[in-house]
Amino acid sequence: MLRTKGERLRDELVAMADKYGRDRSSLLNILQEVQHRYYSISEYAMQVIADLLDIHPVEIHSVVSFYSFLNARPRGEFVIRLCRTISCDMAGKDQVARQLENDLGITFGETTPDGKFSLEWANCLGMCDQGPALLVNQRVYTHVTPEKIHGILQECRQRFGVHAMAGQKEKHI
Ligand code: FES
Repeated sequence: MLRTKGERLRDELVAMADKYGRDRSSLLNILQEVQHRYYSISEYAMQVIADLLDIHPVEIHSVVSFYSFLNARPRGEFVIRLCRTISCDMAGKDQVARQLENDLGITFGETTPDGKFSLEWANCLGMCDQGPALLVNQRVYTHVTPEKIHGILQECRQRFGVHAMAGQKEKHI
């Protein structure tokens, strides 16, 4: 019998709750895993997690909105976060930002229509002496110039191609 996406997600969440434990101390582990698999944490996922851990859904919303690495709304597979704090600002982050926007055809706060890339601002990434700095998911790039953007995006596209061929890309539910 065919199961719906919602049923499959629920089964995955049950498995995660069994793996990490069905109490509130497991919440962050479960949220991180959902984020990793789906690139965001849907309203439905939050409801199911709330039931499984016996926590009020409002608490889960607060945790998701507190941590910048957790997203309630769908983001691209590659979330590019460019530091806008003073050292990176002075090192030329505006030119890097313009290049990113031109190459991707979106502005900061947006996701490309194919769901591959999202552009976001970040505050200091701790690489102030090596700015401009940006993060692509968990990977840090330093001394970024507009000329380097094409190569960084190309690298992501190649990785995306491998994931898509392996059928690993999940859809947001
Ligand atoms: Fe950009 Fe610190 S100011 S990394």
